[in-house]
Amino acid sequence: MRDGAAHPHIRMLTVRNLTKSFTTPEGAKVRVVDVADFHLDPGAQVALRGESGSGKTTFLHLIAGILRPNSGSILIDGAEMTSLSESGRDALRAAKIGYVFQTFNLLQGHTVLENVLLGMSFAPGGADGVRARAMLGRVGLSHRLRHFPRELSTGQQQRVAVARALANRPKLVIADEPTGNLDNRNTAGALDLMKEVCRECGAALLLVSHDDATLERFTNVRDFTDINRMDNASRTPWGQPRKPGESAPRIVE
Ligand SMILES: Nc1ncnc2c1ncn2[C@@H]1O[C@H](COP(=O)(O)OP(=O)(O)OP(=O)(O)O)[C@@H](O)[C@H]1O
Ligand SMILES: [Mg+2]
Repeated sequence: MRDGAAHPHIRMLTVRNLTKSFTTPEGAKVRVVDVADFHLDPGAQVALRGESGSGKTTFLHLIAGILRPNSGSILIDGAEMTSLSESGRDALRAAKIGYVFQTFNLLQGHTVLENVLLGMSFAPGGADGVRARAMLGRVGLSHRLRHFPRELSTGQQQRVAVARALANRPKLVIADEPTGNLDNRNTAGALDLMKEVCRECGAALLLVSHDDATLERFTNVRDFTDINRMDNASRTPWGQPRKPGESAPRIVE
């Protein structure tokens, strides 16, 4: 029986036999993602621990439909991401997924409130000022609505990113090393807030990190190396410089 079919319990996310490879300038194909089976139940909160270069961001980009896999299946709340066109993937992402980027990706020319409203404008419900203000209030930024991102502290920018990710009432929140720019005390506060708001909104939370201060806020922490069977050759550990003349591998679609 297929997941969700003839069954009231539909998984929030089901990943099967997912692969993604990149090609080096020398023409060697390097597999960065090879995930046989991964799933999240509605409302689950899971952190994946993985060293730098282990394919975490690539995996999250595949789940969110930002990148296309070479093969495999990604079901988001029962809908197959991999069979959609780019605009179809954009629509599914807008309807179901909130994404918190490591660098926040706030639009610098727009105020805090506009950033949240613009994020909402792609979703089925459209921009909703009442909801946007409520979410910004929830993250403690009601007094900063008309400020620009550059006028905020890093922790405040992070909270704008959380408000924007949750404003559309996503069923799945994806967070890619979201506290990379915060000190330990602010990391704890930001993560507890994100977890709390996800719980209130009934959203599942999938976070990736290599930072212990981040991971210790989660009870459900899994090693990404247990999930992803990437080629050893594709690992680029810290401190291992590129060889002279060696450039980043090209992407292969
Ligand atoms: N667009 C791309 N083209 C070619 N190679 C890529 C591309 N994106 C990622 N890679 C390679 O895939 C591997 C995994 O990268 P990825 O960004 O997914 O790692 P990560 O686990 O998120 O690392 P970090 O913790 O440093 O963010 C790296 O070796 C990287 O060089
Ligand atoms: Mg990354």
